[in-house]
Formats: sequence, C-alpha cells, structure tokens
Amino acid sequence: MIRSIPEITLNDGLTIPAIGLGTYKMNGNVGVQSITSAIDNGYRLLDSAYNYENEGTVGEAVRKTGVQRQDLIITSKLPGRYHQYDLAVQTIQESLYRANLDYYDLYLIHWPNPKQDVYVEAWQALIDAKRWGLVRSIGTSNFLPEHIERLEKETGVKPSVNQIELHPFFNQEEQRKWHEENDVQTQSWSPLARVNNVLDNDILTAIASRHNKSVSQVILRWHYQLGSVAIPRSTSPVRQRENLAIFDFELSQEEMKRIAELTRPDGRQKDQDPAVYEEF
Ligand SMILES: NC(=O)c1ccc[n+]([C@@H]2O[C@H](COP(=O)([O-])OP(=O)(O)OC[C@H]3O[C@@H](n4cnc5c(N)ncnc54)[C@H](OP(=O)(O)O)[C@@H]3O)[C@@H](O)[C@H]2O)c1
Repeated sequence: MIRSIPEITLNDGLTIPAIGLGTYKMNGNVGVQSITSAIDNGYRLLDSAYNYENEGTVGEAVRKTGVQRQDLIITSKLPGRYHQYDLAVQTIQESLYRANLDYYDLYLIHWPNPKQDVYVEAWQALIDAKRWGLVRSIGTSNFLPEHIERLEKETGVKPSVNQIELHPFFNQEEQRKWHEENDVQTQSWSPLARVNNVLDNDILTAIASRHNKSVSQVILRWHYQLGSVAIPRSTSPVRQRENLAIFDFELSQEEMKRIAELTRPDGRQKDQDPAVYEEF
C-alpha cells in the first residue's frame, strides 16, 4: 500500500491528495468493491458525479472501509439540467441523500453549458451550499477561462478547482497556464486517455522502460509534474496500486517535452469542446 501521497492546498485552504480515483461506471455492488479496494490501497480522493448515478455506491464504499470519513476527500458534480438556483440547491441536497453523507468535500459544476447560460445561478447555489456547510470547497469542471472570469466578476468567488480533459494527446497548455496564474487548481479527467492508443505509444514506452515503470505510471507522473491532480479510474486492485506508485521517480525536462509533443488540436477523446458542447 502507498502510504504517502503528496498533498496540495487549494485557494480556499482545503488540502487534497495529488492523485485520486475516477469512479465513472463504478456502480452497484461491483462498484462498491472497486472503490473499497481503492481506498484500502491508499486512495483518499474519490471523484463522482450526480450523472454517474453512483453517489450511493461511493457512500456505501466509504461506510464499508475502515478509513474515517474525515480522512477522505469526496467529490460530486452538478448536472446541466439543474443549473437554476432552486434546482441546484435541491440537487446538492439530493446528492448528499443519495450518498448518505453529511457533506461533500468538493462539489463542482459539471459543464458550463454556455448556450443555456445559467451557470452563474448554479455557482451562487454552490456558494450558499458552502456557507451552509453542505460542501467544504466549490469548483468547476470543463469551464473555459472566460466562464471562470464571469463567475468571479458576478459573485466575487472563484473556483478552487477546475476539472478538465487532460492527457498526453490533449495537454491543455494554455488553460493550465491560466489556472496557474489565477490560482485555480487543475484536475485532469481521462488522465490516461481511457488507454486508447496509449499503452503501445513508442515515445511513452521508451520513457517507461528507461525508468522501469509502466506507461500509465509515466503518464500519471507527467500529470503530477505538470501540477495537475489526475483521477485515473481502475477497477483492478493491481492497476489501482500501480497508478499510485508514481512518487519514487522523476521525468527529466527532456522527457516532459517529448510527452508534450504528443498533443494534437483534435486530441480530445470525444470532441467535447466546452465552448459548444453541452451536457445535461
Ligand atoms: N468532469 C468530466 O466531465 C469528466 C469526464 C470524464 C471523466 N471524468 C472523471 O475522470 C475519471 C477518469 O477518466 P476516465 O474514466 O474517462 O478514463 P481514464 O482514467 O483515463 O482511463 C480509464 C481506463 O484505463 C484503464 N486503466 C487504468 N489504469 C490502468 C493501467 N495502469 N494499465 C492499463 N489500463 C489502465 C481502466 O481499465 P481497468 O478498470 O480495467 O483498470 C479504464 O478502462 C472518470 O472515472 C471520472 O471520474 C470526468
């Protein structure tokens, strides 16, 4: 078991682990087993969402492990169909009922849905939910800099975290730079690019064999050195452990550069550009 995952302090003071577990498609009893195994193997940050329909599964896994609730960072996300203020408040409460938790550590707006243009109302609901103690820290997902600027301008509060698609084929250099300059923590979703055309990539396999590590470990180390919190998903206890064993080696500047060169303008997994893509 990995005993020490480095921690990162967010702009509102909450401390979170530098790597977490993605839980998309982990549902029901099998999902509970996967998440319990991850916690037993050292994961302390769990990512979920109302739309994954697995907040109950996450809550059940948390109750099944011996790890104290206060030692875990649990995330959920508000879906696009509930951005209106009253609906957003109810949805955060429903998220808590589903998980049977008293609070979430992190609650994010899942997508900005700019054509609907209701995300500022949703943000106001998250601000109030934090004030009421329902969530400890509030953030966004898939927000572009212009969306975050608007939140701050209209409410005076900026997100602690923005969770975005980020992997070697889509490295988000500009958005990451903007996050850094504005003290918003980057989280990487699909950090392993869902292992599509990744594990046999020549550049990645060459770097991996130089360090006696797997390609997944090289990619997750790359996220860590970029300063982003990756949330890889794995249902396998062996791969869950593998994905945490990234704090005992370092990629050189040259290796970081070689990985950066894998990025492509069309590198998104499913062409989900937050400027136009909407999810409800
Ligand atoms: N905010 C958003 O809009 C958004 C969008 C997408 C995803 N997410 C979040 O991000 C999380 C991660 O993204 P993702 O699930 O799309 O993809 P991912 O973590 O990039 O890849 C998951 C896939 O990689 C495999 N895998 C994991 N570790 C491996 C290893 N060491 N060696 C070989 N294969 C490995 C897994 O299979 P096994 O299970 O068999 O190991 C699974 O098929 C999600 O679960 C979700 O929580 C957020």
